[in-house]
Formats: sequence, C-alpha cells, structure tokens
Amino acid sequence: MRLPLLLVAAVARNGVIGADNRLLWRLPGDLRHFRARTMGRPMVMGRKTFQSIGRALPGRETIVVTRDPGFTAEGAFVAHGLDAALALAGARAEAMGADSVVIAGGGEIYAATIGRADRLAITEVALAPEGAVAFPRIDPAIWREVRREPGVRGANDEADFAFVDYERA
Ligand SMILES: NC(=O)c1ccc[n+]([C@@H]2O[C@H](COP(=O)([O-])OP(=O)(O)OC[C@H]3O[C@@H](n4cnc5c(N)ncnc54)[C@H](OP(=O)(O)O)[C@@H]3O)[C@@H](O)[C@H]2O)c1
Repeated sequence: MRLPLLLVAAVARNGVIGADNRLLWRLPGDLRHFRARTMGRPMVMGRKTFQSIGRALPGRETIVVTRDPGFTAEGAFVAHGLDAALALAGARAEAMGADSVVIAGGGEIYAATIGRADRLAITEVALAPEGAVAFPRIDPAIWREVRREPGVRGANDEADFAFVDYERA
C-alpha cells in the first residue's frame, strides 16, 4: 500500500522559499509547526536542504537525495534517485508506523514530487523577499484548500503567517 505523500513548505507571497541555501526569514512559530507535521515520519529532502539544516533532525528519519555516489550523511539515509528515495521512505514509514511520507524540500525536490503528492501543508509567509528558489505553482484546478489556520505571531517571528492545507480537487 502506498502511504499518502505530504509536501511541507513555508512559502512567501511571491512563491519564494529560500536563497543561497538558506531560509529568508526567522519564524520560530513555523519551525514548531514543521516539527509537529514531520515528527514520527520519514522525510525526503534534497542534498542542498540537508546541508543547509546541517544535521538529521531528531524524532524523524531523514532520506537525503543526491546524485553523488560518495555522499554520506550521519544519522540519515541516502538515496540516489527520487524513486529510490520514495520507496525507501515508504518502507521506513511502515517500519515506524507512520501515516504518511513527508517531502521537506527544497525547490528542486518539491518541483519533482508535487505531481505525485496527495496533500500540501503550506505555511503562507506574509513577506515577498528576493530569492532564487521557489515553490512550484499551486494550480487551483488541481489543488483545493481544505484547512486554513492563522499562525500566532510570537515576539521572535519576523512576519505574519498562516497554515494552509490542500488536497487534490
Ligand atoms: N521554505 C521552506 O519550506 C524550505 C524547505 C526546504 C528548503 N528550503 C530552501 O530551499 C533551498 C534549497 O533548494 P534547492 O532547490 O536549491 O535544492 P534541494 O532541492 O534541497 O536539493 C537539490 C539537490 O538534490 C539532489 N537531487 C535533486 N533531484 C535529484 C534526483 N532526481 N536524483 C538524485 N538527486 C537529486 C541533487 O543533489 P546533488 O547536487 O548532491 O546531486 C540536487 O543538487 C534552500 O535555500 C533552502 O533553505 C526552503
């Protein structure tokens, strides 16, 4: 059985998600949300995103996608193609008793997987920064908004934000 595939991303008003291998905002409120959405699940991410985070995050299993046959990542699995990464993530999800597989970015990996995703968990960030890395267009003919919840902006959050889930229309 194929488990649902969930893309989790924080996206600015102009679609930007990052630049220079980093995030462009400080939003602890969204990091807590990311933690909650990913905890106990396998996460597939691109090699650049893994290196920008700098380590495997606890309580989740990380599968790093790279074309580099020599790449190793402490505490993480490595896959050399998307199909291999998703197959491994599915097997790990079953082993962990997880209900879904998470795609955690970045831009290249979101673009390559949105066509197979079942659900999108988007944090809408009320900023429009310059940046070269974007989330793919969320086509309203394909995706239907099923939940919207305003984020509670804390003292250390640099912008307003809202949590928006989409399912296939
Ligand atoms: N706002 C958010 O929610 C969010 C979330 C995640 C990341 N980000 C941001 O996104 C940016 C990184 O995104 P990105 O698009 O530059 O890079 P990325 O998607 O994180 O990683 C790209 C890398 O993944 C590997 N890869 C891609 N497709 C592959 C395939 N089919 N088979 C094997 N390996 C494959 C390649 O690694 P090799 O070069 O090693 O072969 C490629 O260079 C950063 O700025 C990060 O902060 C934002």
